[in-house]
Amino acid sequence: MIPTKIADNIYDVGVIDWNIRDFHGYSTYQGTTYNAFLIVDEKVALIDAVKAPFADQLIRHISQIIDPKKIDVVISNHTEMDHSGALPKIMAAVGADKPLYCSKMGAKNLSAHFSDPWNYHPVDDGQELSLGKRTLSFIETRMIHWPDSMFTYLKEDHILFSSDGFGQHYAGFEKFDDQAGSEVMVQAKKYFANILLLYAPRILKLLEKVVASGLQIDMICPDHGVLWRKDPGKIIDAYFRWSRQETEKKALVVYDTMWKSTEAMANAVAEGIASTGVKAKPIHIRSSHRSEIMTDVLDSAAVIVGSPTLNNQMFPTVADILTYMKGLKPLNRIGGAFGSYGWSGEAVKLVTAELEAMNFQIIGPGIRQLYIPGNDGIQACMDYGKQIGDAVNAR
Ligand code: FEO
Repeated sequence: MIPTKIADNIYDVGVIDWNIRDFHGYSTYQGTTYNAFLIVDEKVALIDAVKAPFADQLIRHISQIIDPKKIDVVISNHTEMDHSGALPKIMAAVGADKPLYCSKMGAKNLSAHFSDPWNYHPVDDGQELSLGKRTLSFIETRMIHWPDSMFTYLKEDHILFSSDGFGQHYAGFEKFDDQAGSEVMVQAKKYFANILLLYAPRILKLLEKVVASGLQIDMICPDHGVLWRKDPGKIIDAYFRWSRQETEKKALVVYDTMWKSTEAMANAVAEGIASTGVKAKPIHIRSSHRSEIMTDVLDSAAVIVGSPTLNNQMFPTVADILTYMKGLKPLNRIGGAFGSYGWSGEAVKLVTAELEAMNFQIIGPGIRQLYIPGNDGIQACMDYGKQIGDAVNAR
């Protein structure tokens, strides 16, 4: 229940957002949480706030433990509004002159969001803050997820407050990894694919630095979803795999269709891929949210894209998913394109150019079929699928 005691005198006082279904364009079918942490020591610290509409709930949760005015320091690990929106109300409740610790970029970014003259204390990487019996150490983690992002490590308890890192959009009263079941890894993977993949090289460096430093981590407390207390190594291992962009023998066939011709081609390409022993998954774009498609891209060795030609262009929904994918920078994938057309038929060429721009290894010139693919056309798509499957197997 909330507040949740997570260790002696340490509480999660955050809130559950049961009903959010769209998080700046990312589908959140399981809702989410905005976690915030209260450490009661000789000094009392609040780590992170919540989204603005939940400010009163956060104050109520804090008040169940301690009078908010007794909070001595507020720490902002990340400026994004899901963690800072409630700060004006929180700082008013805590005392507007209380020190607000954040990274140097955090001070700049918070000032750009809020005009309040708060008592900013920008910190350096590795800087420490004593709370009395306990010590906080700040770790700069730029771009995980914004330039201002940092982690806060509680040295004596070996707890890492990791902001967006290791988070999942998962709402529930189950607060720990050992209580929430397998859905947590599903949501953690989706979170990485849609929020953090772009920063995979930085994340890998950070993970390597943390491992090399021998930092003991007994619990990871992200700002979204469950806290990793039973097996923090499980999510750290997954982050190593995902940030190295390790893929499986799996190929996605992502397509849209006007009169079911490109769909018939997609199914034939997928069948050809599957005949080589590679897992094949056709995904109709308008039947699946782009953030779900991106989650599948994360561990797919090949992404093959099908588009009809509409007004001399690729289909608009295909442009949408390609734009989204390009921004998240999946690397080292095999790519290919196919599609049905009526008269001009530019889509395959345009899609291929987009995949080339992502440095995908392109298989062949792609397959174009006039109007409705006949038996020969379907066979050509199956053969193309086999070519793609062979390329995946050859890796
Ligand atoms: Fe949960 Fe980047 O904010």
